[in-house]
Amino acid sequence: MSSSTEPKSPVNEQDDTETTYSVNEEEDDGSEMDGFSNVKPKLLKTPSILNAIIDQIHPDVIAKSHQSNFVLFPPKLEGCTVVDLGCGVGRDVFILSKLVGENGHVFGVDSDKEQLDFARQHVHYHAKKFGLSKTNVEFIEGEIDRLEDTKLKENSVDVVVSNSVVNYRRDKKAIIEGACKILKPGGEFYFSDVYVNRPIPAEYQELLSGEYIGGALRWEDLILYATEAGFTQPRLVTAKPYVVTNDDIQKAIGKTKFVSAIFRCFKLPHVEAEVTPFNIPYQLTYETPLVSAEDEFFFDHSLQFKLGELLVVDDPSIAFALSLSRYKENFTFDPIADAETVTVIETVEEIPAAQDNDDTNNGGVSRKTTTITTTTMIPKE
Ligand SMILES: C[S@@+](CC[C@H](N)C(=O)[O-])C[C@H]1O[C@@H](n2cnc3c(N)ncnc32)[C@H](O)[C@@H]1O
Repeated sequence: MSSSTEPKSPVNEQDDTETTYSVNEEEDDGSEMDGFSNVKPKLLKTPSILNAIIDQIHPDVIAKSHQSNFVLFPPKLEGCTVVDLGCGVGRDVFILSKLVGENGHVFGVDSDKEQLDFARQHVHYHAKKFGLSKTNVEFIEGEIDRLEDTKLKENSVDVVVSNSVVNYRRDKKAIIEGACKILKPGGEFYFSDVYVNRPIPAEYQELLSGEYIGGALRWEDLILYATEAGFTQPRLVTAKPYVVTNDDIQKAIGKTKFVSAIFRCFKLPHVEAEVTPFNIPYQLTYETPLVSAEDEFFFDHSLQFKLGELLVVDDPSIAFALSLSRYKENFTFDPIADAETVTVIETVEEIPAAQDNDDTNNGGVSRKTTTITTTTMIPKE
């Protein structure tokens, strides 16, 4: 497994690599959504390269940071422009500052001025610590569901990250759309959040907000919002159960289950439907190793690229997005001339975007039905 994609949280040390998580493991609650039930989550280990950076972060910043479930970043960030949505006091922005290096740039966006002021007080400390000739970070006060009101320009960013933030916000669709707009085609959205296995009844929302999970998203809604925004289907990197610590809340929510998960997806370029190249299947070979992923690139929980091994990626739009992404030099892409299409159509209920700026979640809101079509190309026998 790639060590560059194996970070763990510096604040959550337990190792649950052996756990097999299933939201249905206790009893079948009749929920048709259970995208996590087949996941054997791995709490990926922090590579030594990332641990060494975390050790260099100012202790006051670490002390004030949110107890995030994961602190993980995608590889190959050197020279990239990265945006951290909901950066808080900036721990991840400073870690990313080191990862992008002298020629990269990191923007942290948060709506909380006090946290941003605290983060700004530590900008020069980290530039000096990392040996940068000048700071490469900038903190922007703004709403992550209104990125169009910030200085961040469309098609200008290589990578967007976000850590334990989207579940706070009601208008998740606007956050995902905003992230997609600022990314360049082939750009990567890599983010951790809390997901729920069924809509949260309205009467529990206030109770759950104290647990930071009142706004947890259903993963089908994530797929819907991401693909509608112009991303590839999100790929699940890793997941683990989110343990509700308050007994009263646990009793109240009953069979409702939560998971913390990291997804990654890539911005597809806008093309006219009739000329879409997304359905051309490719065989990919991981040819040039990424730093700290010399043997294997841990792309997601079901897809790992072994160096030199030829692989047919089940989702042709992922192969296409990778061919535009910063990973493109690491792969060779061979189109499969003779392939057949397998189409899967799923019906999901969509949660409408919120009409206001309320911080509560969207459970209990009336839902409309939408279909998600997944096309997979496989080589003909
Ligand atoms: C749980 S903290 C996570 C902070 C940081 N990502 C970390 O992992 O340490 C959530 C952050 O989201 C920010 N936030 C919540 N709603 C926001 C919004 N609409 N726009 C920008 N930031 C927001 C909060 O101010 C807070 O800093």
